[in-house]
Amino acid sequence: MISLENVSCRREDKYLLQNITWDMNAGENWVLFGLNGSGKTTLLNIICGYLWPTTGKVTVLGKVFGTYPLYELRKRIGFVSSAIDKRLPDYDYAENIVLSGKYASIGLYENPDDADIDYALTLMERFHCSKLIHRTFETLSQGEKQKVMIMRALMAKPDLLILDEPCIGLDVLAREQVLELINALGNDLETPTLLYVTHHIEEIMPVFSHALLLRNGQLYSKGPIESLINEQTLTDFLQRNVKIDELNQRKYLKILD
Ligand SMILES: Nc1ncnc2c1ncn2[C@@H]1O[C@H](COP(=O)(O)OP(=O)(O)O)[C@@H](O)[C@H]1O
Ligand SMILES: [Mg+2]
Repeated sequence: MISLENVSCRREDKYLLQNITWDMNAGENWVLFGLNGSGKTTLLNIICGYLWPTTGKVTVLGKVFGTYPLYELRKRIGFVSSAIDKRLPDYDYAENIVLSGKYASIGLYENPDDADIDYALTLMERFHCSKLIHRTFETLSQGEKQKVMIMRALMAKPDLLILDEPCIGLDVLAREQVLELINALGNDLETPTLLYVTHHIEEIMPVFSHALLLRNGQLYSKGPIESLINEQTLTDFLQRNVKIDELNQRKYLKILD
């Protein structure tokens, strides 16, 4: 799905990312975990081809960057980030925003066919969002907006779905609904492979199998969730004593001192 070999990204004399080597295989859903400023979004921008690494080799969905048109590749990648929803027209209906994902466009300029409309409505029904039909984007709650953004990203039936901190700014209940939606994706046969970016371990739903820990632009560790999201590893990673409680396959972190 994704293969990075010695990827570095430098801006002036500062490394935003340094020597990242990482393989993400089909059938694995990954969490990219790191504190603010650790380079998570920079890494996603490289994977989507919005940013070119200073050195290193990037292969996404079997295509080596520099040998394949990026706009073709991007059609197969769903990307949910707060940078996109700020650009959406406030007055557009929720269902049109979902539909616009088919063309990866801001606003719906093309005439969707019946099959597309059916698929958009099926997605909205499946994720309990039929009540949002004919509601303009500006009237949606933050949690509803995020769900619409995820369905928009699913509209093009991507092979890879990247979610950059999709729960930022949500209250606890709205956040739970978005997380449930993401977890439900994992149980679907047509589901894309997931890459989820967060700095909260309680957002790591059971659907995720692997994690990559990023610290100051460097790969701290990578592997199965169980071997990384534990007290020993996170105490060292965060350089603070932490306690982790587990409830219903979810983990919750406390800083002890
Ligand atoms: N284009 C850029 N030029 C210089 N510094 C940048 C640029 N983009 C991001 N940074 C810096 O790189 C670091 C990593 O940023 P980012 O990838 O957004 O982190 P994260 O998503 O993990 O919070 C931050 O210190 C940020 O200020
Ligand atoms: Mg970020």
